[in-house]
Amino acid sequence: MADRRIGIIINGATGRMGTTQHMAHLLAIAAEGGLKLKNGDRLIPELMLVGRDARRMAALAAAHGNQRWTTNLDEALAGPDRIFMDCSATGGRPERVRKAIAAGKHIHIEKPTAPTVEEAMELARLADKAGLKHGVIQDKLFLPGFAKLLFVKNSGFFGRILSVKIDAGSWIFDGATQECQRPSWNYRKRDGGGLALDMMAHWRYMIDRLVAPVTAVSALMSTAMPERVDEAGQRYTVDAEDTNYALLQMQGGAIGVILNSWATRPRREDTMMVQIDGSNGSAVAGRFRCYTQSAVNTPEAFIKAAVPGGVDLMAHWQEVPDAIPVKPPFRQCWELFLRHVGEDAPYLPTLIEGAKAVQLADLAYRSFAERRWIDVPELRL
Ligand SMILES: NC(=O)c1ccc[n+]([C@@H]2O[C@H](COP(=O)([O-])OP(=O)(O)OC[C@H]3O[C@@H](n4cnc5c(N)ncnc54)[C@H](O)[C@@H]3O)[C@@H](O)[C@H]2O)c1
Repeated sequence: MADRRIGIIINGATGRMGTTQHMAHLLAIAAEGGLKLKNGDRLIPELMLVGRDARRMAALAAAHGNQRWTTNLDEALAGPDRIFMDCSATGGRPERVRKAIAAGKHIHIEKPTAPTVEEAMELARLADKAGLKHGVIQDKLFLPGFAKLLFVKNSGFFGRILSVKIDAGSWIFDGATQECQRPSWNYRKRDGGGLALDMMAHWRYMIDRLVAPVTAVSALMSTAMPERVDEAGQRYTVDAEDTNYALLQMQGGAIGVILNSWATRPRREDTMMVQIDGSNGSAVAGRFRCYTQSAVNTPEAFIKAAVPGGVDLMAHWQEVPDAIPVKPPFRQCWELFLRHVGEDAPYLPTLIEGAKAVQLADLAYRSFAERRWIDVPELRL
C-alpha cells in the first residue's frame, strides 16, 4: 500500500469550472489523503495550474496552498505531470489537446471536445493510437435528480418509453442594464460560443442513456439578443445562437424534443427539466428532485382539466426518495477517471462519447442550415 502522486495540469484554472469544480475537487481528494485504489494504494493529485494572467494565477495558487502554476502551457506540457485537463474557454481546444497528446499526457477535458465531429473524432483517434487514457466531463447524470431518473429508467418503470421532453434555460442578461451571468466568449463563434455546441454536449449522453441512442435530429435555432455588452463594458455583436429547439428520434421508436434557450423566463421547478413518458408510467426530474406517476395513479385530465380547478395536475406524483448520500458530480467524474488511469478501471465517457455529443450539435447546425431532418450515423474509431 503506497502513496502514489499523480501530476494533473489544469489549463483554465482561473475560470468558473477550473476553480470551482476541477481544482476544488482535486484538492479535496488530495486533502483526504488521496483516492484509495483497489489494491490499497492511494492516488494523490498534485496540481499544475495554467492560465493567462500571471497576477491572477499567483493569487489563485497562493490562496489554495501554494499550488504550482505557470502562464506557459508548453512549459507545463513539457513537465512530468501525467494528466491534462482543459477547462479553458472552448475555442482552440483541439489544438491544445493535440499538443497534450503529443506530450504523452492522459486527456480529461471539458465539453465540447471540439467544434466539429471530424475534429472531435480525430482527437479520440490520436489519443487512442498513442495508448493514452482519455475522457470528457459528463457530469449531469450524477446530479441527484437525473441520477434518480436514470435509476427509474433502469428499473424498467416506464415500460415502453414513448418520448422525452427537455425544457432548459433561463434569462441571460445582455450586460447593458444587469451584469451578464455568462462570459462573453459564449456568444462569439470564433471563441467556441453557441448554445447548441455547448448544451447538446449534455443532451446527447443524457438522452442516449435515459432513453435510447439518438438516431435523427431536426433543429431550429435563433439569436434572440443580437447585441451584448462584454466584461470590459464594450458592446459587441453576437454571432452565435442563444436558442436551440430540436426534435429527435431514438432507437426503438421513442421521440423527443429539446427546448433550450438563454432567452426564456422559466416558470417551473428548475431551469433544467427532463420528462420521460412511458406506457407504464412517467417521470419528471430537475437537477435535484425526481417525481414519478405510474399508470394506475394517472388521473383523468382530458375532460376534467376543461374546467378551472377540475383536476390537480400536480397531485398523484410521487417523489423518488434520496437513497445514499451522493458525492458532487464533478468529484465523481474525477474519481472515475483517476481510477481509469490508476488501476485501469473501465471508463464510459471517452473522447468517442465526447465526439458523439459534438456530432449531435454538428448535425443540428446542418439540419437548421439545410432545413431538413438528418440521420445520426454511428461513430467508430
Ligand atoms: N460540464 C459542465 O457542466 C460545464 C459547465 C460550464 C462550462 N463548461 C465548459 O468548461 C469550459 C470553461 O467554461 P467556464 O464557464 O468555466 O468559462 P470561464 O470563462 O469562466 O473560464 C474560461 C477560462 O479560460 C481562459 N481563457 C482562455 N482563452 C480565453 C478566451 N479567448 N476568452 C475567454 N477566456 C479564455 C480564461 O482565462 C478562464 O480561465 C468551456 O469549455 C465550457 O463549455 C462545462
